[in-house]
Amino acid sequence: MAQAMNVDAPGSSPEGIRESIAVASGKGGVGKSTVGVNRWVGSRKMGRRGGLPDADVYGPNVPIMLGASGDLVTVDGAISPLEAHGIKLMSLGFMLEEGTPVIWRGPMIAGALKQMLNDVAWGELDYLVLDLPPGTGDASLTLAQMMPLSGAVIVSTPQEVALQDVKRSIAMFERLSVPVLGLVENMSYYVHQPTGDRVEIFGHGGARKAADDLGIKFLGEVPLDPAIREGGDKGSPVGADAASTLGAAFAEIAGRVEESVGAGEPEVEDDLPML
Ligand SMILES: Nc1ncnc2c1ncn2[C@@H]1O[C@H](COP(=O)(O)OP(=O)(O)O)[C@@H](O)[C@H]1O
Ligand SMILES: [Mg+2]
Repeated sequence: MAQAMNVDAPGSSPEGIRESIAVASGKGGVGKSTVGVNRWVGSRKMGRRGGLPDADVYGPNVPIMLGASGDLVTVDGAISPLEAHGIKLMSLGFMLEEGTPVIWRGPMIAGALKQMLNDVAWGELDYLVLDLPPGTGDASLTLAQMMPLSGAVIVSTPQEVALQDVKRSIAMFERLSVPVLGLVENMSYYVHQPTGDRVEIFGHGGARKAADDLGIKFLGEVPLDPAIREGGDKGSPVGADAASTLGAAFAEIAGRVEESVGAGEPEVEDDLPML
């Protein structure tokens, strides 16, 4: 594994992409796709042009979270990405029948990921945000070696067992020379609506402390809120409403990520149809 990490220098990014950012986590189910989707839906509203290759080969569920469906079409030999909430999207989910498990070995995963990046007409984008599978497996390694990444955003829940895996993820990116842009604490706390009491189901503040200990930036916290789950299941992500409390939490994270990659002002705003 260590050897594989050091072999190839990264290939090149698809043309027209300003920044490529991976969203990663040590574990599955911590809200990596949720943070990716909501954060990018929000930045579209701020005039950023985003693309989201759903690179989670084992659970490609970004299409559901964005409510994207439809047949893929090929134009001049390149696959046109679907578009939902103003985000361009390509997913292994479009290539699989619903409910079909992905039982692929390394080279097949690498082939599918290459196709998703290189054979798709992404066009001019401010951001390409790669939703990685959990952990430090083949797909993450392949992607990090396939193209130069501006950085990785790591998502975790606050409890110790999740944070242990985060450390492994961070170590992987460091060995691949991919800058870690920071850590997001998801499911940080729950506000019991009838009483307004705050319940810290997975503890609270663990990710902030881990970020401090590891010397990486803390990007913000997202509460555990049924509206986030419902939005994901219905394909109407809460991040689309930047004025809402939840939308604001994602927007704050978006702002900190942008600071970390040093993104400039949006270049085009007027020709973006707002949704
Ligand atoms: N902050 C949150 N509040 C409520 N539900 C959440 C939150 N974050 C994620 N979820 C839900 O938890 C499930 C797992 O999240 P997901 O983003 O798919 O995780 P991952 O991509 O890390 O596997 C999804 O059903 C999602 O809607
Ligand atoms: Mg996911």
